[in-house]
Amino acid sequence: MTQAFRTAAQDRNPRILIIDDEAEMREFLSDALMQNGYRTVAVGSGDAALACARGERFNMAVCDLNMPGINGLETLEKLRAIDPDIELIIVTGYGTLESAIESLRLGVFDFLQKPVNLKDLLFSVRKALERRDMRERLALYELSRTIFSTLEAEDLYGRIIKSAMSVLRADDASLMLVDANGDLFIALSASLQQEILQGTHLALGERVAGRVAQQPEPVVINDDATTDERFRGIRSLRPMKASIVCPLTMRGKLIGVLNVNRVSVAEHYTEHDRQNAMILASLVSLALGNARLHTELQARLMQIRDSHEEVIQTEKMTALGNLLSGVAHELNNPLCGILGYAQLLQQSSPDPKSRKGVDVILREAERASRIVSNLLSFVRREKPDKQPIAVNAVITRALQRKASDLKVCQIGVTADLDPNLPAVLGDGHQLQVVFGHLITNAQQAMFEANGKGTLTVRTRVHDRRVLIEFADEGPGIPEENRRRVFDPFFTTREVGKGVGLGLSVCFAIVRDHVGAIRVAPGPRGGAIFTIELPIADREKRQEEADDAADATVANGSHEKVAARVLVAQEEPRLQDMLVEILVEMGCQVDAAGDSEAVLERIRSGHYDALIADYAMPRLDGHALMNALGARDPSLLRRVIFLAGDTTNPRLMEFAAVSGNQVIGKPFDIEVMRSAVRRLLAATGTGDASVN
Ligand SMILES: Nc1ncnc2c1ncn2[C@@H]1O[C@H](COP(=O)(O)OP(=O)(O)OP(=O)(O)O)[C@@H](O)[C@H]1O
Ligand SMILES: [Mg+2]
Repeated sequence: MTQAFRTAAQDRNPRILIIDDEAEMREFLSDALMQNGYRTVAVGSGDAALACARGERFNMAVCDLNMPGINGLETLEKLRAIDPDIELIIVTGYGTLESAIESLRLGVFDFLQKPVNLKDLLFSVRKALERRDMRERLALYELSRTIFSTLEAEDLYGRIIKSAMSVLRADDASLMLVDANGDLFIALSASLQQEILQGTHLALGERVAGRVAQQPEPVVINDDATTDERFRGIRSLRPMKASIVCPLTMRGKLIGVLNVNRVSVAEHYTEHDRQNAMILASLVSLALGNARLHTELQARLMQIRDSHEEVIQTEKMTALGNLLSGVAHELNNPLCGILGYAQLLQQSSPDPKSRKGVDVILREAERASRIVSNLLSFVRREKPDKQPIAVNAVITRALQRKASDLKVCQIGVTADLDPNLPAVLGDGHQLQVVFGHLITNAQQAMFEANGKGTLTVRTRVHDRRVLIEFADEGPGIPEENRRRVFDPFFTTREVGKGVGLGLSVCFAIVRDHVGAIRVAPGPRGGAIFTIELPIADREKRQEEADDAADATVANGSHEKVAARVLVAQEEPRLQDMLVEILVEMGCQVDAAGDSEAVLERIRSGHYDALIADYAMPRLDGHALMNALGARDPSLLRRVIFLAGDTTNPRLMEFAAVSGNQVIGKPFDIEVMRSAVRRLLAATGTGDASVN
C-alpha cells in the first residue's frame, strides 16, 4: 500500500478534550491519559472548550462541573450540539443529585467524584470509547441492512449515497461507476446537477477520483486537494473542507469510486474515519456486485425463457407437421379429380342450374387446394434453396402481386426501404410467400376494423441482420394472443374466412432461414410484424426470377393437336381426367397405372409426350428417366411431371437437371393444356403423330 495515501499513524489514537478550571487537575488528567496512549487537549473554561471543538474533532470530553463562566453541564450540552457522537465524562468535587440526573439526561457516560481514582478513570474512558465504536459499527450494520435490502440499481445508488453521508458525517457524496470504455461516470450525486453528471466522464488517473481509483484503499484528503502534494496538477470541481475517496472493487477489479465530502462541515477526517470508509467501501462494492449479478441473471433468465418458448413452438410445429404432411398428400389426389372434372363440366356449358352448382364446387375445391398448398409449405421439411437475394426487390414484387386487393380494400402502402440494404441469404420464392401472408393479414385487419388504412413496410440493418417491418393501423393483437398467432390453425377470423396457417407458414420459413419473426404492438395501435434475416456473406444481388415464363403459359388456344401421349398415373380418376383433357385436345392417348405397364408401353410404343406422376410406386421420376433414356434419349425432353409438392427442393433440382416441366397437383386444366402445347412446340411435334 502507498504510505503517502494514508493519514498519519498516530491519528488512530482517540482524542480527548479535558476541561477543568484547576490547572493541577488538568495536568494530572492530561498526563494520566497521555501515558495510556490517548491524545489530549486541556483547556480551563467552557468557552475555550467550545472554541476547540469547533476547530477539530474529539472522541471524548472529560469535564469539571463547577467552573467560572459557562458551567460544566452547559458546556457539555453545547459540545453535544457541535458533535452528537462525542462521549462525555464528568469529573467533579461537588456532585449533587440534580446535576447527576441532568448529566444522565445529556447522555453522559460516567459521573466521577474527585479525588479521582486513576483506575476508575481509565476504565470509564475505555468503556465510553468502546460504546462509541459500537455505535459506529451499529451505523455500519444499519447501512449494510439498508443497501442489501434492494437489488434495483437506481434505488441502491440513492441508499448508498445517503448511508455514506450519514456514516461518515458528510454533507455531500457521489457514486461513480466504470462504464464500458473503462472510464468513470457519475451514477448519482447528492449535489451535482444532472447536466454536469451526464457530461462528466473521467479516464482513470484523471482528477482526484480517477487517480484514487488506481489505489487499493480509501484516501483521506483534508483541506483542498489542489494544495495536496499527492494530487499535484489536478483541478478539483469545487473547494472541500475534507473528503474521503473510496475505490470500489469486486474480485480485484475496479467497479467504481465513492466520494464522500465535507463541503461546509469544517472538520478533518481521521484515520478512524478512513477505516470506517474501508468497511463502507467493501459493503458498497458487495451490494453493487449483487445488483449487477441480479441484473445479469434476470437478462439470462429472459433469454432462457425465450429460447424455451421457441423450442416448444418448434417441437409443436414438427409434431403437427408430420401429421399434416400425410393428410395433405392424401387430399391432393381427390382434390385433383374434383377440380379437374368441375372445370371440364364448367366448360361443357351445362344448364344454368347445374352451372351454378359446378361454380360452387370449383370455388370450394380451389379453396381446399389453397389450404393444402399452405399446409404443404408449412410442413415442408427440406431446407430452402438459399442465395444472396435483394430483400427490397422481393418485397416490391410481393406488394405488386397484392396491389389490386390492397386497392379494393382502400389500403395505401408506404415503403421505407433502405436503398443500401445488403443482400440476405434466402430463398426468394419462400420469402415472397412470407411477405404475401403478412401483407394479406395487415390488409384484412385494417379493412375489417376501419374499411381502410396504411401499411408501412420498412427495411434496415441492425446488428449484422436485416430487419423487415410490416406495420399496420388495424386493431393490433391482444397480448394473450401474441404467442399463439404463430400456432397452426390459430385464427380469430370467421369460419370459412381464415384457416390460421398464414403465420405458421411464415414462422416455419423464417426459422428455416435461421431468422426470427415476432409481433409487437405499434406506438399508436396496430400490429408490427418484424422479420430478422442474416446478411449474406457475399453481397450479390439476386438474379431476378424469371416469372414471366411461368406466367405467360402458352395461350389457351383451342386448336387441336395431333400427338401421341402416354399418361403414367396410378390414381384412376386422375388418369381418366388427364385422358379426357388430352383427347379433347385432339391427342391420341394411352394410359398406364403401374410401373410394369408404363415400362411396357415405353418399350413397345412411340410417344410425342409423356405425362407422368413424379412419385409413382416403384417408378419415380429418376427411374422413369432411366427407362426413357435406354429406349430413346430424345424422349428425355418430352415428359411433363405431376407432383404433389412442387416446393420440394429435390424435385426442383430434378426438374432443373432434366429440363422438364413440373405441374403441381391439383392443377388448372388450362395450365395442363398449355404445358402440353409448349412441349409439343419445343420438340417440333404435335401437328401430326410421329413415328
Ligand atoms: N396484422 C394483423 N393484425 C391483427 N391481427 C392479426 C394480424 N395478423 C394476424 N393476426 C391474427 O393472427 C391470426 C392468425 O393469422 P394467420 O395469418 O396465421 O391466420 P389467418 O389470417 O386467420 O388465416 P389464413 O390461414 O387464411 O392466413 C389471425 O386470425 C388474426 O387474429
Ligand atoms: Mg393470414
